[in-house]
Amino acid sequence: MRRVVCPGSFDPVTNGHLDIIGRTSRLYDEVVVAVLINVEKKSLFTVDERIEMLNAVTKEYGNIRVEKFHGLLVDFCRQQEIPTIVKGLRAVSDFDYELQMAQLNYRMSGVETLFMSTNPEYSFLSSSRLKEIARYGGDVSGLVPDLVNTLLVERLRG
Ligand code: PNS
Repeated sequence: MRRVVCPGSFDPVTNGHLDIIGRTSRLYDEVVVAVLINVEKKSLFTVDERIEMLNAVTKEYGNIRVEKFHGLLVDFCRQQEIPTIVKGLRAVSDFDYELQMAQLNYRMSGVETLFMSTNPEYSFLSSSRLKEIARYGGDVSGLVPDLVNTLLVERLRG
């Protein structure tokens, strides 16, 4: 069983995330999408809401399992017997941070990190920018799945 993890906050999942998850699902037997429980960071959606959205929008791939985790990602990988992390790289600006994390994770545990280049169509996309646009009435359709768009508008504009 070739298993891999795609970790993140997913607050909420974007088409950029989905692109990486979908392409990864073609390379591995099982993709575990791991949602970080971060009590220090204020989030728009609860972890369970994010999991529900992820389950709905990844159902069609057939080999995705959505889980939550807290603490170190490498500990989650050990518990779940996952040897590899896949991360999307949008631009050079992601690189320093991601490289440092990949090297630390490898140093701590031997878990490998593989970087997948994002689809240029989504290379400018981030959950925080999306929330900002949606909060002020901007249109984010085409950047998030329809379900997420509906929930975003509901949550932000009451
Ligand atoms: O979507 P995000 O917020 O960029 O995802 C970041 C995430 C969850 C992948 C990263 O913060 C993470 O792995 N956090 C868990 C804590 C951890 O393992 N830290 C050590 C890094 S060396």
